[in-house]
Amino acid sequence: MNIAIAASECVPFAKAGGLADVAGALPKYLRTLGCDVKVFLPKYNTIDESKYDLHYEYAIGEIPVRVAGAAWPVHVSRANLPGSDVPVYFIDCPHFFHRGRIYTNDFDEDGRFILFSKAVIETLQRLQWVPDVIHCNDWQTGLLPLLLKDNYSWDRMFDGTATLYSIHNIGYQGLFGKSVMDIAEIRPDRFSALEMHGGVSMMKGGILSAEIITTVSETYAQEILTPEYGAGMESYLLMRRDDLHGVLNGIDTEVWNPETDPHLPHHYSKENPGGKYLNKKNLLEKVGMPYDAARPLIGIVSRLVAQKGFDLIAETFNSLMELDAQWVILGSGEDRYERMFTAIHHALPHKVWTYIGFNNELAHLIEAASDMFLMPSRYEPCGLNQMYSLRYGTIPIVRKTGGLADTVHDWHEFQSFGSDEVNGFSFNDAAGYALADAVGRAVEMYDSNKPAWHQMMMNGMNADLSWDASAKKYVKLYEMAAGKRGT
Ligand code: ADP
Ligand code: GLC
Repeated sequence: MNIAIAASECVPFAKAGGLADVAGALPKYLRTLGCDVKVFLPKYNTIDESKYDLHYEYAIGEIPVRVAGAAWPVHVSRANLPGSDVPVYFIDCPHFFHRGRIYTNDFDEDGRFILFSKAVIETLQRLQWVPDVIHCNDWQTGLLPLLLKDNYSWDRMFDGTATLYSIHNIGYQGLFGKSVMDIAEIRPDRFSALEMHGGVSMMKGGILSAEIITTVSETYAQEILTPEYGAGMESYLLMRRDDLHGVLNGIDTEVWNPETDPHLPHHYSKENPGGKYLNKKNLLEKVGMPYDAARPLIGIVSRLVAQKGFDLIAETFNSLMELDAQWVILGSGEDRYERMFTAIHHALPHKVWTYIGFNNELAHLIEAASDMFLMPSRYEPCGLNQMYSLRYGTIPIVRKTGGLADTVHDWHEFQSFGSDEVNGFSFNDAAGYALADAVGRAVEMYDSNKPAWHQMMMNGMNADLSWDASAKKYVKLYEMAAGKRGT
C-alpha cells in the first residue's frame, strides 16, 4: 500500500512531544511490512539541514499554495528518516515556518497548518504519487480530509485515496475563528461539520471527514466517548463510534535501547544490569547530589502542563518530601509548574534537582539512571515515557488512565495479570493522597523487597513494546479505510 503520513512533528527533525516519536518510528515499521511510505513535515527553521542531509527537490520546483486569499510560494526538500529508506518531504514556506519554534501563539497559527495541509496534497500531485491512505495527525492536519474531498476533488488522481485521522491528544483541538472558512477557502455549507463554539475546530473536521479515526490506546478510545475525557468531542466521536479504533503506540527500540543508547555513559541489559547503577551515580555526580545505592532516585521528564497532573504533586508535596528518595526533574511548559519545581530544587538541593528546558540527551540519561519514573497524568492518551522506563528497567508509577492503564500493571494486580506482567505502581483517584500512597508503596518495596523489585524490572525489560504489533494493526486499518473509499 502507498501511505502518506502528514505530521507537524517528527523525530529527529522536530519534536515537542510524543507525536514526534510516533511519526519518526511508525513509518519505518510500516516499511518493513511492505508499505511504500512517505512522511510530510513542515520545514521549520529549527531543523538542522546539513546535519540531516536535506536536499532541495528541483523536480518539484515552486508550488503556489493558496491561504488567506494569497498564493504563497512553497518549495520542497527531502531527506530519509535516519536508518531507513523512508523519505521525508519538508514543506518549505519561510513566511509561515521560520518562527524559531514548532508551535506559536501568533495570529496566523491556523493559516500555518492550513498551508501545510494543502501543501501536502499539492506535493503529492507534483510527485504524481497516489496514496491509498493519507494518515493525518492531531488538529494541525485535521482539515486535510475535508480539503481533499472538497477543494481537491477535481483531481481524479485522489478518487481512491482514503484518509485516516489519529487523535494523539483531544486537549488540543485547533479551535479558531470562523475566518478559517475563508483562510482555507472551504465551502460555506461545510461550516456545520467544523463548527465549535461559533468558530472552527480543525479536530472536529478530522473526526467527521476521515474514513477511519484512531487514537493511541484502547482505554483512551473508550475514555474520549465520555464527557469527562471527550473535551466536547464526545458527541461527534459517538457518531463515528464504529470507525473509531484504539491502537497503542509502540516505541522505537533502536532509539530507546539501554544496550546501545549513545546518550548513556554506561550501557546495560537485563542480563547485565550493572551499568544502570553507574548511570545513576554519573547523573547524581553531574548534578551535585550525593549518591547512595540504598536511596531510590525518582525521575520525571515531561511537558509541564495541567494534563500531566503536577498539581497532584503540589497537593501532597510534604508527604512526598518526607520519603527517603531523591528526585530529578526535566521539563518545560507552564510558568506555574516551572516555578514550582525550581523552588523545590532551591529549597532541597540534596534531594531534588530540576532542569527547566528541552534536553533529549538528559531525557535518555534520566530514564536510565532513575529507579522509578513518575507520571501522575490527569489524562494520558498513550504516554511514551512509561514504556521507555519499562525498557530501561525503571519502575513506572502512574495514574491509571489512558495508555498508562494499558501498559502499567500494579504489583497489587498480580492476580489479574500474573507475576510475569506486573511491572509498576498505579493509582486511580486524581488526588494527592492516592499519588502519595503509590509513591510510598514503591519506595517501601525498593527498601524492603529486592526480589520483587528485581522481578518487576525484568518483567518490564522483557516486554515487547516495539511497533511490530501496532504497525500491523495500522495496516489493517489502512486497508479498511481504503475499502470504505472504494465503496
Ligand atoms: P506528550 O506527547 O503528551 O508530551 P509522551 O509521553 O507521549 O507525552 O511523549 C513525550 C516525549 O517527549 C517523550 O519522548 C519525552 O522523553 C519527551 N520530552 C518531554 N519533555 C521533554 C524535555 N523537557 N526534554 C526532553 N524530552 C522531553
Ligand atoms: C500526545 C499524548 C501522549 C501520546 C503522544 C503520542 O502528545 O499526550 O499521551 O503518547 O501524543 O501519541
